[in-house]
Amino acid sequence: MKINLLLGAALVLFSAAAFAQDSLKGNAQTGKDLFVAKGCYSCHGFVGQGSREGPRLMPALPYPAFVAQLRTPRTIMPPYTATLVNDQQAADIHAYLESQPKPPDPKSIKLLQ
Ligand code: HEC
Repeated sequence: MKINLLLGAALVLFSAAAFAQDSLKGNAQTGKDLFVAKGCYSCHGFVGQGSREGPRLMPALPYPAFVAQLRTPRTIMPPYTATLVNDQQAADIHAYLESQPKPPDPKSIKLLQ
């Protein structure tokens, strides 16, 4: 009986921790500073607009894909381990990229009609 209670409590704690991981809330202002402090700007441009060294980062990838690219980049981007950019900082940078204005809908541009 006691062991069941303990197991139950452990399970509740474990799922609470897993939930906290999923719902890290990023701060766009902090993310803007981190984007420069962590050197992302040197390849992706000061606002993530892209350069010869790295692609444009908007519209932002969904968070799981963003973190996957950060931790295990597809090709030549240097990997950022959790020691370099922790999960909270990754969420902040992601929030910053998501806060960038979206490009206008082509249908709303008169010259293109
Ligand atoms: C040395 C240059 C360089 C630095 C510094 C760099 N990146 Fe990259 N990044 C790249 C390149 C090149 C790619 C293209 C894919 C690859 O090489 O893995 C890329 C791809 C990405 C992508 C995927 C874009 C897409 O649409 O597929 C994201 C997101 C990204 N970088 C975020 C970051 C963040 C956040 C930082 C800072 C913590 C950063 N990068 C630092 C060069 C860089």
